[in-house]
Amino acid sequence: MANSSSRYLITVCQHRSCLRNGAAETLAAFQQHQSDHLLVQGCECQGQCGSGPTVRVMPGDTWYCRVQPADAQTIMEQHCTPGGQPVESLLNPRLHQTQSAYANLAEQYQAFTQSQPAD
Ligand code: FES
Repeated sequence: MANSSSRYLITVCQHRSCLRNGAAETLAAFQQHQSDHLLVQGCECQGQCGSGPTVRVMPGDTWYCRVQPADAQTIMEQHCTPGGQPVESLLNPRLHQTQSAYANLAEQYQAFTQSQPAD
């Protein structure tokens, strides 16, 4: 879904598990892009502790996982721009079903059914 907004809110979890995985550095990387069109802030636990640092982008409520400082530039360039798209490779798969994830599952199922004779 293309993004038609020109203003964004980015929240970066600053709770324990995410901090252990570098969330302070991830927040700092996003803050380098702060502007009139972008609000970046830390937030409390978002309930995705096993896949942090967790980053959410509004509008659209896009959830990213395992976001490293270098990923901030990618998200800014590909998502947080008029007409931008979420960065599929960084989406949290628990919260965003991707077409490629479904395709992989379908391929695995097809391979399984062809390799195992039915009883
Ligand atoms: S500690 Fe970051 S989502 Fe829970």
